[in-house]
Amino acid sequence: MDRIVQNLNMAWEYREVTQDAFAPIHIPHTMCELPFNCFDEKSYQTQGVYRRVIFVPADWAGRRLRLRFEGVMTQAQVFLNNTPVGAHDGGYTPFEVDITDAVRFGGDNQLVVEVDSREIPTIPPFGGQLDYLTFSGIYRDVTLLVTAPLYVENARITSQNLLTCAPAVTAEVFLNNTTAAKTVQVQVTVSGAEGVVATGEQNLPVPLGAQSVQLPLTVSQTLNLWDTENPHLYEVQIAVLADGVLCDTYHLRTGFREAQFTERGFLLNGKPLKIFGLNRHQSYPYVGYAMPARAQRRDADILKEELCCNMVRTSHYPQSPHFLDRCDEIGLLVFEELPGWQFVGDEAWQKKALVTMEEMIRRDWNHPAIVLWGVRVNESLDFHDFYTETNRVAHALDPTRQTGGVRAIDHSEFLEDVYTANDFIFDGTNTPLRAQQQVTGLSKDVPYLVTECNGHMFPTKSFDQEERLVEHALRHAAVHDTAAQDDAVSGALGWCAFDYNTHCQFGSGDKICYHGVMDMFRLPKYAAYFYQSQCPPEKRGVLKAASVGSMGERSKSGIAPFTVFTNYDFIRIFSGERLLGEYYPARDRFPGLAHPPIIAEEGLGFLWGENWKGLRVEAWWQGRQVETVDMAASPHTARLTAVADDNTLFADGSDVTRVVFRLEDQNGNLLPFTMAVLQLSLEGNGTVIGPSLLPLRSGTVAVWVRAGEQAGSLRLRGVAADMEAVTEITMISKEGVDCV
Ligand code: GAL
Repeated sequence: MDRIVQNLNMAWEYREVTQDAFAPIHIPHTMCELPFNCFDEKSYQTQGVYRRVIFVPADWAGRRLRLRFEGVMTQAQVFLNNTPVGAHDGGYTPFEVDITDAVRFGGDNQLVVEVDSREIPTIPPFGGQLDYLTFSGIYRDVTLLVTAPLYVENARITSQNLLTCAPAVTAEVFLNNTTAAKTVQVQVTVSGAEGVVATGEQNLPVPLGAQSVQLPLTVSQTLNLWDTENPHLYEVQIAVLADGVLCDTYHLRTGFREAQFTERGFLLNGKPLKIFGLNRHQSYPYVGYAMPARAQRRDADILKEELCCNMVRTSHYPQSPHFLDRCDEIGLLVFEELPGWQFVGDEAWQKKALVTMEEMIRRDWNHPAIVLWGVRVNESLDFHDFYTETNRVAHALDPTRQTGGVRAIDHSEFLEDVYTANDFIFDGTNTPLRAQQQVTGLSKDVPYLVTECNGHMFPTKSFDQEERLVEHALRHAAVHDTAAQDDAVSGALGWCAFDYNTHCQFGSGDKICYHGVMDMFRLPKYAAYFYQSQCPPEKRGVLKAASVGSMGERSKSGIAPFTVFTNYDFIRIFSGERLLGEYYPARDRFPGLAHPPIIAEEGLGFLWGENWKGLRVEAWWQGRQVETVDMAASPHTARLTAVADDNTLFADGSDVTRVVFRLEDQNGNLLPFTMAVLQLSLEGNGTVIGPSLLPLRSGTVAVWVRAGEQAGSLRLRGVAADMEAVTEITMISKEGVDCV
């Protein structure tokens, strides 16, 4: 019998610790749905009890049964049939619980998980303050693993000399033997679309307990390297045979690439690549962290495809495996770091942080997308012994990746391979980044990456006045422009991708940090237009006017300077039929950018009163006029649109898609100052996450729709400003979603 991996996300019950009645729920789950903002931040820091029945067939007797929890905030205690079977501290890393000895075979079993989601000060990242919320519940997947008593626990695939004609691949297989000692055969096969590329086989005695085996593989075909443009992936199958009989098969996915930060920048497979990216918090409105695979994967797509990033930092903790899987698939580099924020606790706390870091590395070492481990608590002070140890452990676990550790203090002790620093020097007028030696205090260049910039230096809401939104965008442009021109800087990661809920000590007082280039719904601010515009035009043309296109919105009236984020060659701006001018990218001001913004000034003088005829922006590329933005002289409400990210969901009770509503004028432009509210109604077996009556913000808003448990269709209807928009979503059943 081969291993069985069963998803256990469905059919749980939950109660708050202070209540008696259980209610049916599915996982991912948050213990407390929050309002969008302005809530009591203690309200979600609660304790609860989850339970679920697991039927275990009689013919599983003799096998090993393990439960795997991908993420439970903050502390979990697991019981099976009233017997304690395991516990875990820390909300960002997975844990497994062996339930074999407590299981009743051939019958139902009662699984109970007691969860404490408070900010327990002895468990990282807690103990100090955090500029983010950690939310609650069993918020990532739960699975049941059924294996032979001798099974593969984990495996790590590493490679060497990839850029030579003799690449080497090694598999390290971690076995656990819970029966008598045996001699087994381990077989490893690596295959891609082109067929099998590497194999290895080894016979070995396996004593009782845990043991690891190193298998050098024979590489039989050229390996296609993974990179950001062609993220080539390979499936690895590990079979374990005892006396010629298969006892376990383990699968993983990986890719082969050489990634190195040097004092002259970052090299991917030996080629320089300037890092251009953003930080991501894994939170969403209302449900915090409790979002399923599809939403997690979508965030990676947004970062790579919409925002044109080549790297994301998982600030400030290990993020969803679904997010990382998608990063592998689409070629989005990842800097992943251990949980924490400025605070480092006592020795016991530090030990826990080390354990969590080890759990992170063991979980994620096969992701080709991850090119850097963050082994310092974000922005903490220097802790020589602690960070010597985190570096030692990270290197011992994974000698193939460099370490970094994000600091905000200058001249911090450099114990890692890459000096990773947040540079918040830019105030909009000065030099946007400091030279690396000024930050490091070292007398020579070292591998160096700017891991945050902007953020709290210029918080900006999607519904702020347009001058601020433009300035916000230009600040991001300026930092990346500076990083691009300095060979001693590997690149920069802006703070941050999406607005996020936070504690009262941070943000705008409403429990939100409006630091994103997108809002919490992942809807773009003008700063997102800047990121979008760095895409090669061959891939996707971008023409985004950073303006509401009106005469009297700015401080001194008028539309100059008129900023357009585009990757085309030049633009022409018209007022009515009158050509106001032809404008080119501001290459003098942003020489480092592939596609500098166009900042039009001349010829855009006095258009007030009867001169106001609206604006037309025409984009030209390779000698042709390719795209136009028309901003009406007299915009009026013309339509409400509703567009779902996905038209098909799995009927598993937790799958979600986002639906974006926009109130548009006659030209399809947003009406940013509408005060309209959106009234939602959903027909079918599903739910709208969050309120069904909500304001449009800057003319738009999004909601996530969650599928129910039965296949069928959902019809989401939105009404705003007397307009209606409807979207239909089909829900299909997913085989094997849950069969226990
Ligand atoms: C940094 C910190 C981030 C966030 C940011 C706001 O200092 O690392 O988590 O708080 O500031 O700009």
